[in-house]
Amino acid sequence: MSQDQVENLLSEDRTFSPTAEFAAQANIKEAEYALADADRIGFWESKAEYLKWDKRWHTVLDWQVPFSKWFVDGKLNASVNCLDRHIDEGRGDRVAFYFEGEPGDTRTITYAELLKDVKKAANALTEIGIKAGDRVAIYMPMIPEAAVAMLACARVGAAHSVVFGGFSAEALISRINDADARLVITADGGYRKGAAFALKPAVDEALSGEHNVKNVLVVKRTGQEVAWSDRDIWWHEIVDRQPEEHIAESFDSEHPLFILYTSGTTAKPKGIFHTTGGYLTQASYTHRAVFDLKPESDIYWCTADVGWITGHSYVVYGPLINGATQVMYEGTPDTPHKGRMFEIIEKYKVTILYTAPTLIRTWMKWGDEFPNKFNLKSLRLLGSVGEPINPEAWMWYREVIGGNRCPIVDTWWQTETGAIMISPLPGVTATKPGSAMRPLPGISAKVVDDSAHEVGKGHGGYLILDKPWPSMLRGVWGEPERYKETYWSKYEGIYFAGDGAKLDSDGAYWLLGRVDDVMNVSGHRISTTEVESALVSHEEVAEAAVVGANDATTGQAIVAFVILRGGIDHTKGEALISALKAHVVKEIGAIARPRQILVVNELPKTRSGKIMRRLLRDVAENRAVGDSTTLADPNVMNLIKDGLATATED
Ligand code: WTA
Repeated sequence: MSQDQVENLLSEDRTFSPTAEFAAQANIKEAEYALADADRIGFWESKAEYLKWDKRWHTVLDWQVPFSKWFVDGKLNASVNCLDRHIDEGRGDRVAFYFEGEPGDTRTITYAELLKDVKKAANALTEIGIKAGDRVAIYMPMIPEAAVAMLACARVGAAHSVVFGGFSAEALISRINDADARLVITADGGYRKGAAFALKPAVDEALSGEHNVKNVLVVKRTGQEVAWSDRDIWWHEIVDRQPEEHIAESFDSEHPLFILYTSGTTAKPKGIFHTTGGYLTQASYTHRAVFDLKPESDIYWCTADVGWITGHSYVVYGPLINGATQVMYEGTPDTPHKGRMFEIIEKYKVTILYTAPTLIRTWMKWGDEFPNKFNLKSLRLLGSVGEPINPEAWMWYREVIGGNRCPIVDTWWQTETGAIMISPLPGVTATKPGSAMRPLPGISAKVVDDSAHEVGKGHGGYLILDKPWPSMLRGVWGEPERYKETYWSKYEGIYFAGDGAKLDSDGAYWLLGRVDDVMNVSGHRISTTEVESALVSHEEVAEAAVVGANDATTGQAIVAFVILRGGIDHTKGEALISALKAHVVKEIGAIARPRQILVVNELPKTRSGKIMRRLLRDVAENRAVGDSTTLADPNVMNLIKDGLATATED
């Protein structure tokens, strides 16, 4: 047999079946898989029926590899699907958002109020000349106006390009110009870590050079001093005086809904663009299926910022189409105390929580006393997204947050896929800690070797998607060749996700991280994720990042950076390092024994919480640290290097 593209090293025997009660009430039952397998196109067509169409499609899918059109010739309006239909069907008084500002201010916004705000904002956009087909950049804190701005753009048919509020002026202008945006919607600032941060100055700086931006709409959030120019308009001054009526136009199913930039391995970010009908179909279906949403009774909280795809699909479009009641929180998890998020769960009796492994591991590091202080019994389902979740972090999430009662859905997907692709179904799947388990009904994902052959159970390789799906990206904005080259060139006619994965002996899917992060140790391709999970399974470790560093003997050698758990009296220094190395050998085997383990206080992460292993590799190989402008905390690399100077190696 040919050697695996990525070795299958860790094994996991624990499984957790849904309880009989959960299974009985679940939205989706086992039969859904067979239904979708029998007629994949018909299956997605039936999910599109859930949307409100102004004109029906004549063909479900037009597939000219790698360009797809879904629900061809159908017409609809995204904002009508999120809002008007709920009011028309008598749900206007239902709460859409419970907003919790970081300083403690709150707002409760019903569907009827949200619709009124969106209609007025849409009228304001029209007044300043925004038309269907234009692009609008949105650079906002996590406040309700961010969602209102997105929906108002969708209502008038302008594509939004949300740029995360933590990004710099430079990142903002490159995205504004790449999309040729006409308008920027921003705020004076927002609240983070107990203080007001400014946004408007970054917009002013971004717009100091060349661009085609005509106006800047500014929401007043903090009331801080802002510089003002002729193109600036206060949001409240123009929006408040607009009429409350707005008749939405219908747009083609393939009308661009938004662009969202993701940073690739190269410097220039890719403008991933999504269209309307297919995207809304899959975002709303997966939100009902994976989170088992009961719109009348659930309080749903996805902690993602609208600056990420998760905030688009699972704060704005999916949940609003489904009529969900949500919590939206502006600030950071440790302000004013490390129990803030648990306090919010208790306050609003949150039933469904969707968050990222990086936050789960941060909670683990802080210690159990914070969640234990609050009543989390309202929770009935937990979700994870963004990175592989290490089995021990999964177990901690299950026990400490979920009280051993909530199913966990580990959801694999990407900005490019638009919606969840691989995930347990909470009423059906017996889950394994750390595994995303199985492609959703209607989705075809496989693990293959270099020549596109399926690797089979028990083996590792590359994750691919070999059939089109409704919410797939329609391209890279303005760069069709780059789209083909990046996603469709490794395998003919097949989408390559860039992730390693393995199938265990039962055929469950395990995500192994980006293939760029795979290490080659003495000819064995070892996934950083598996070694990290082995380290996190040691009781003293909360978080780990592993990289392969050049090594004269083994090609690459494993270098690990670990953060220790809070509330533990740690074994000291050398003894701990030796114990951790022995633990990895026990869990995985001698091949995965780290050459070096460094205890650190922080890890370099992007603002969406992904570990930047590239920077750690620079440290491990004693190089000057490369471009770190996308780091959430630019100082982290200095702290790590300082710590390193005093660390020992054996
Ligand atoms: C990673 C986020 C393992 C993966 C929705 C993917 C995951 C990239 C998971 C996309 C998961 C996301 N398990 N890895 N459940 N979810 N990833 O575009 O490497 O921000 O390719 O979309 O995150 O990140 P993006």
